[in-house]
Amino acid sequence: MIKIRGLKKTFQSGTQTVGALKGIDLEIQAGEIFGIIGLSGAGKSTLIRMLNRLEDPTVGDVSIDGVNLANLSPKALREQRRQIGMIFQHFNLLSSKTIFRNVAYPLEINKTPKAEIREKVQKMLKLVDLADKEQAYPSMLSGGQKQRAAIARALVASPKLLLCDEATSALDPKTTLDILELLKEINRNMGITIVLITHEMSVIQTICDRVAVIDQGVIVEEGAVKEVFQHPKQNITKELIEHLPRHIYTDEIFSGLSGKVVRLHFDEKSSQKPVVAEAIIKTGLNINILSSEIDEISMKGIGSMVIEIPGDETSQQSAIEIFNANGVKTEVIS
Ligand SMILES: Nc1ncnc2c1ncn2[C@@H]1O[C@H](COP(=O)(O)OP(=O)(O)O)[C@@H](O)[C@H]1O
Ligand SMILES: [Mg+2]
Repeated sequence: MIKIRGLKKTFQSGTQTVGALKGIDLEIQAGEIFGIIGLSGAGKSTLIRMLNRLEDPTVGDVSIDGVNLANLSPKALREQRRQIGMIFQHFNLLSSKTIFRNVAYPLEINKTPKAEIREKVQKMLKLVDLADKEQAYPSMLSGGQKQRAAIARALVASPKLLLCDEATSALDPKTTLDILELLKEINRNMGITIVLITHEMSVIQTICDRVAVIDQGVIVEEGAVKEVFQHPKQNITKELIEHLPRHIYTDEIFSGLSGKVVRLHFDEKSSQKPVVAEAIIKTGLNINILSSEIDEISMKGIGSMVIEIPGDETSQQSAIEIFNANGVKTEVIS
């Protein structure tokens, strides 16, 4: 869907020349969630801004569905941009407009009939779970709600591509997970290709299919997320992975076990409850804790635990239901 060839970008700031991108080749397939990760200043924002020609290449080409962006007339470029939604770290909502008007904005500027605007905006607000915030102003919303509104605005004109520039970097870990889950759902249900840039490996780990690592304007490593995480080649990639919970390396060692291996995801509330004990008592199963990664930095008990549930399918399922009923999300590993 997206083809980037020999892309370079040089900025002139005063007497200094900054080479932000130094020759990027990249292909992104339709329908995938593609992550680009790198440290601050690596060139991520410059790269993603080339995808809707907010920035013009110094050298090289970007084409989307076979159309070279450099060759587009102003009218064709406007049409192309309509196909591309974008969300940002700081949401970029208009503070003087209601949430309804913010989401309606892309439709208003392309002169969509009023009734159609109402219908589409309401549908989007429902999708992002903000149906009751139509008349609220951005300042009345939490960070997560603001990003949901920004997602609704980015999607209201039915784009085929969604660009996310550090979209969760201003959010707390729990809200980050909620937003990433929403993006995953949008990718799955609406078939929208997502290109996401971030400095956080955990974001890539949570939703991306493939990842490219960018360092000083060059892509140094690229591949399926699991492959890059398990066998990082470059030092920069190893550094970026270092701070992640270790479980991404260890999933494979659980695969030989006879019981059902399940990862439990705790949030602040559910981590306060003795849910494993409850499941053991109620099902009589000898549930085995294999690993536990509770986030010690935030001290809020957000994190995950991997358990093995013995027994037959029915009793395993009843254990899973006990976890879910306690607000613990479950993910079957094997
Ligand atoms: N408009 C600009 N003018 C001058 N230098 C810029 C401009 N935009 C970005 N840069 C420089 O290009 C490099 C890459 O920036 P950026 O793409 O914003 O990185 P990232 O998003 O990975 O943090 C940095 O050195 C930055 O200072
Ligand atoms: Mg940036």
